[in-house]
Amino acid sequence: MAFELPELPYAHDALGPYMSRETLEYHHDKHHLAYVNNGNNLLKGTEWENASLEEIVKGSFGKNAGLFNNAGQHYNHLHFWKWMKPNGGGAIPGELAKKIDEDLGGLDKFRADFIQAGVTQFGSGWAWLALKDGKLVVTKTANGENPLVHGGTPLLGVDVWEHSYYIDYRNLRPKYLEAFFDNLVNWDYVAELYAAAV
Ligand SMILES: [Fe+2]
Repeated sequence: MAFELPELPYAHDALGPYMSRETLEYHHDKHHLAYVNNGNNLLKGTEWENASLEEIVKGSFGKNAGLFNNAGQHYNHLHFWKWMKPNGGGAIPGELAKKIDEDLGGLDKFRADFIQAGVTQFGSGWAWLALKDGKLVVTKTANGENPLVHGGTPLLGVDVWEHSYYIDYRNLRPKYLEAFFDNLVNWDYVAELYAAAV
């Protein structure tokens, strides 16, 4: 099925001062649009023309690098816009918070590990909270990869490509990751994905 660029679920200036209008104008309106357009061109004539996005991401991994990169980034960005909201951060809903205590050593350790995963992803990529084999895990991936292609279910991801933070934070990726975790994450959406995954 053809890829489409979704509308942002909030105004371009709604995530300030943590993520600016200019960043979202470039990141959503230009970078995500390019993944959609390139992905649609590369999808034509392949065996995945009528497949779902998840099937395309999993099926093209290791087989069709051009299609995979764009389909993976389309999947990642579709969720990324929903993983944020104005006045985000704050308390994590009960069931998910309990699971974080059980599997990840509590909120403070999870926060530190998640930020550290983003800081240490060399070059472009993503840091993740995922569910794998019934357990929460914190991971990182390069470029357009995500936990789907490693047998997990993505619950929260943060984009650490420079296009995600360079306008607002320049080279200070750790500051961007702290602001994302503390002020932008839409935990209700993360909890929704967790409930659907278990
Ligand atoms: Fe991005």
